[in-house]
This record gives sequence, structure tokens and C-alpha cells, in this order.
Amino acid sequence: MSFAPLASPTQPHNRSPANATEAVTHPDPYPYYTSLATRRPFGFDASLGLWVAAGPEALTEVLGHPACGVRPAGAVVPAALADGPAGEWFGALVRMNDGPAHSAMKPWLNAQLATLHADRDTLVRLHDASQAACADAYLARGDAPAARLDDFVFRQPIYGLAALLGVPASQWTEVHEDVRALVAAMAEAGKPSPRADVLAHGHRAAAALRLRAARWLDNDAASDTWLQEVARRAAGNDSIDFAALTANVVGLFTQTHDACAGLVANSVRRLARGTNGISASADPTDLGVAIKTVSDVIRFDPPVQNTRRFLHAPAVICEQALAPGDAILAVLASAPPSATPDGMAWTFGTGAHACPGRSPASTIAAVGVHAIRQTGEDLSSLASGATYHPLGNIRIARFSA
Ligand code: HEM
Repeated sequence: MSFAPLASPTQPHNRSPANATEAVTHPDPYPYYTSLATRRPFGFDASLGLWVAAGPEALTEVLGHPACGVRPAGAVVPAALADGPAGEWFGALVRMNDGPAHSAMKPWLNAQLATLHADRDTLVRLHDASQAACADAYLARGDAPAARLDDFVFRQPIYGLAALLGVPASQWTEVHEDVRALVAAMAEAGKPSPRADVLAHGHRAAAALRLRAARWLDNDAASDTWLQEVARRAAGNDSIDFAALTANVVGLFTQTHDACAGLVANSVRRLARGTNGISASADPTDLGVAIKTVSDVIRFDPPVQNTRRFLHAPAVICEQALAPGDAILAVLASAPPSATPDGMAWTFGTGAHACPGRSPASTIAAVGVHAIRQTGEDLSSLASGATYHPLGNIRIARFSA
């Protein structure tokens, strides 16, 4: 089955997206996604050069299929990142591997992340991290509220995760800078002509973050923290490779950077618009408002809208014959939202590579949104626009021009 446009263009602002990657930045992509899932749950989109899977059945089949890998066969590391610390780091990530490299680390990592709890002390630490992110966003962007908000939504989740894991507060600013540089280099590596300076920054950041992670696990993290506990458990487990562990601790930060920014930013936009009857001016001391908004965004305006798979062997998928080298766009945002807030959340994926960070992501984002509400900014004028960062997979509301 191949694609014809799903709807004819009318005006630029309310024309339907041309394809599933354009939908990510569309003001309201959900009617398009519903139509895609109903009319063409699996088909080849010539405009993207990709097979596109939409709706729960096709997504489950693709993301659970043994012939579908997370990276093109024989190319775990993007060519532009090879031969440097960023490439070496990338090649050790559970997110980027299938087979033994994935199964050796993923269940263990899942179990470690499951020990993070949102108790009172954790919320206090997250609150402190959000205040620090507010202050640093001010230093970075000065007195321009929209630019400051754009900075905050990326910065706060990194400070929050650092606080949650036990990274000393004195390192949060530099960790954020390095994570940003590494994420930028990963994005750059996927472009036709990657800029050498962006890649070089990424290599430098990867080396610095690996070194930091090794020190955190050694003894540089505050005592009684997740990092210290993980180091202790890893030392008693022969199957855990220390180099792979440091890479994947850094990987937690890069996984958080864009996805959690989308969760915070889209929540702020939802509040600004008063969607679902929650007003931006509801009691700013009520953390429940932020928790409810984040939970609604996970279901109704999710940050991660699609992910990719690459055929490693010939396979019949959704009744279509695919060949090695074919690639599939799995449109997570096309699956209908769960009927209950704690039900299946497609934005966190499914199958062997499903996200192990749903719970910390939701907690970090809720505390971040709460912190923004407490600044007293008039969100309805600041954040109710309709623009998004120009990404093809993650939907992140953008507030400054
Ligand atoms: C809003 C926040 C987040 C969203 C929407 C999200 C979504 C996702 C998705 C869709 C995947 C699977 C990608 C695929 O199958 O191709 C994934 C993988 C992953 N996520 Fe998250 N994530 C979020 C935050 C986090 C956080 C906070 C952490 C860590 C604390 C985290 C850690 C990971 C890891 C380690 C993987 C790789 C798992 C694997 O490949 O087996 N994520 N995430």
C-alpha cells in the first residue's frame, strides 16, 4: 500500500500535515493521526522514503518484531560520530543496540530505575533543582520571559535527573551544558553535511560526561544516593561491565533531554490554553495541578511522537513483504490515548526497547511545571502560541520567536 495525501491543503495554518514527520510540529496533528491509523495503518510513504506504522496493532507488531532493529544493520554508530568518544559512547547504549549488548544491560537498568521513588525527600531535592534551573535560565537568557522559558524546559529535567540520581549540585550546570552538546552532536550526525564544530563539541562532551559518570559511581556522588547504590550493586554483579554502565548512566541524561523538555513545554502550553478546564491561574501552590497536567499531556499531546526501526532480515510485517535495509517510522502518537491516566502510554514506546523512565520523567516534569507556575509569570500570554521546535520525532512547544 502506498500513500496519497490524506487531506487536501487549504490554508497554511489549518492544512493537514503532509506526512507523519511534519505532523510533529503541526498545531493540531491529532485528526491527521486518527485518520492515518484508521485508513492506512501500514504503508510506504514515498515522501519520507519510509514505511509508516500507525495505530496500536501495527505499532505492537513493528516494535515487537525480531527482524526490526533500532539502528540500520551493521551501522550501530552513525558514520559522522565514529572514531571519537561520542561514537564509542553511542555504541554502548541500550537504546542503540539489539541482541546481547541490549539484553545484558536493559533488564538490570530497568530494575535500578524502578528503585527511584517520589518520596518527600525526593520532591524536596527536585524542587531545589528546579529553583537552580530557574536561576540559571535567568543567567543564560536574562529578562526575556519567553526565551527564559524555552531555556528552562530543557535545563530543568537535566538538573532534576541529576538531583534524583545524586549528582552534586555544584555539577548540574556543567552536566547540562555537556548533555546539550552531546544531544546536538547526535542530531547533527544525522544530517547530510554535519558541521565539524558541533561534532567536536559532542566528542568533548561525551568524554567529559563518561569521566564524570565514572567518578559518580566511584564515590563522587553524595552518599545514600541512587548512583552509590547502583555502584554497589554493579560491583556485586559480574555480568555488569563498568564501561557500559558509565555509558548508560550518561545515556539516561541524553534520553531525558528532549523527551522531558517536550513533556514540560507541552504541559505549560496546555495550562496556558486552559485545555481540559485547568486554568493557568489555578492555585499556584497546588502540585496536583502540575501532576494532572503532565499526566494529560502524556495521553493527549505526547512528547515522543514517533521512533524508527530498520529491517535486519526479510520479513512480512502487517501483511507487507519488507527487505533488509527498509526503514519503518512507528508513529506512537497515532495510537488512541489510554482511557485511564495510568494506562498504556504509547509515547514511552513498547516492546523490548520500551522506556524505563516513565515514572521519573513524570515526577521531574511535574515538579518543573509546578516551579514555572510558582514564578507568577502570566502563562496565558506567554505560552499559548502554536509553534514547536523543528524536530521530526519529538513535539516540544516553543515560546520565543
Ligand atoms: C517524557 C519523557 C520521556 C519519554 C516520552 C520517553 C520515551 C522513550 C521512548 C519512546 C523510548 C523507546 C524508543 C524506541 O523504542 O525506539 C525510550 C527509551 C529509553 N528511555 Fe525514555 N523517555 C522519557 C524520559 C526518560 C527518562 C527520564 C529516562 C531516564 C531516567 C529515560 C530512559 C530511557 C532509556 C534508557 C531508553 C532506552 C531503552 C531501550 O532501548 O531498551 N527516558 N524513551
